[in-house]
Amino acid sequence: MSNTRELLRWATAALKETEIESPQLDAEVLLAHSRGLSRSELYTQPDGRPSVEAEEHFRSLVARRLQHEPVAYITAQKEFYGLELQVDGRVLIPRPETETLVEVALMIGRQREVAVLAEVGVGSGAVAIALAVNLPSIEIYAIDSSSDALAVAEENCRRHDVLDRVHLLLGDLLMPMPKPVGLIVANLPYVSQDELPNLAPDITDYEPLYALDGGPDGLDHIRRLLEQASSRLRPPGMICLEIGATQALAVNDLAREQFPAAIVGLVRDLAGLDRVAIIAT
Ligand SMILES: C[S@@+](CC[C@H](N)C(=O)[O-])C[C@H]1O[C@@H](n2cnc3c(N)ncnc32)[C@H](O)[C@@H]1O
Repeated sequence: MSNTRELLRWATAALKETEIESPQLDAEVLLAHSRGLSRSELYTQPDGRPSVEAEEHFRSLVARRLQHEPVAYITAQKEFYGLELQVDGRVLIPRPETETLVEVALMIGRQREVAVLAEVGVGSGAVAIALAVNLPSIEIYAIDSSSDALAVAEENCRRHDVLDRVHLLLGDLLMPMPKPVGLIVANLPYVSQDELPNLAPDITDYEPLYALDGGPDGLDHIRRLLEQASSRLRPPGMICLEIGATQALAVNDLAREQFPAAIVGLVRDLAGLDRVAIIAT
């Protein structure tokens, strides 16, 4: 039997050897999870010895991480915008850069006193739930083409008590919307098919392809969303799109094709990369 310090040292070394990006953090999160403790609690009892069963459980979690399974899928949870979300292989793991999309949508929602908005590509529900929690009277049409993803989103909406205001709709982009709205928010798949094979195995071997694949140039979904938006956006409407770091010019052109008078703005994420296109029609 090993103590906490020894287990962490073993797991960190093994994960480092397999070139896992954040070996120590992952080891801590997995050990804390397997013992039902917080990470800080691990450090208050470094000489504590988990039971034989707990140690075996921890070693099995590390074995999964060594196969590149993401920590969020192993622990079945991910924090996003201060909210704890349940995640599994049916949904994309919410990314920190998507918090920029939430910030932008919150700002517009408050400034324009938006009463109803659409979020397209809802996945785990991360964006819709962050908006619903922070805009307490908003109604959201939250759309996804995957019933598997919607099942996860429903569970997360229930957990955060917003199921009465987040209307989960199955279908293609804006098609299921019952009426036009003044604000559309979307984080649709935008990885180009050329780039897909270059992504880390943590992504390609575990996350759903339907949440990543944006077609030949990565813009298939965004292009079609903008086409549909011309009849489903109540003027003067706004569209906020999460985009890839090199897609700003192309998205600007696509937006102008559908909305010739549009003003298109860009917001960078915390890494300084173009991340959100704001289209004011
Ligand atoms: C990049 S994930 C975003 C998930 C979540 N909003 C987030 O930011 O973490 C994209 C989501 O779009 C959905 N999607 C893909 N094609 C779609 C379509 N044609 N209509 C609606 N949703 C679609 C996928 O199922 C997936 O859940």
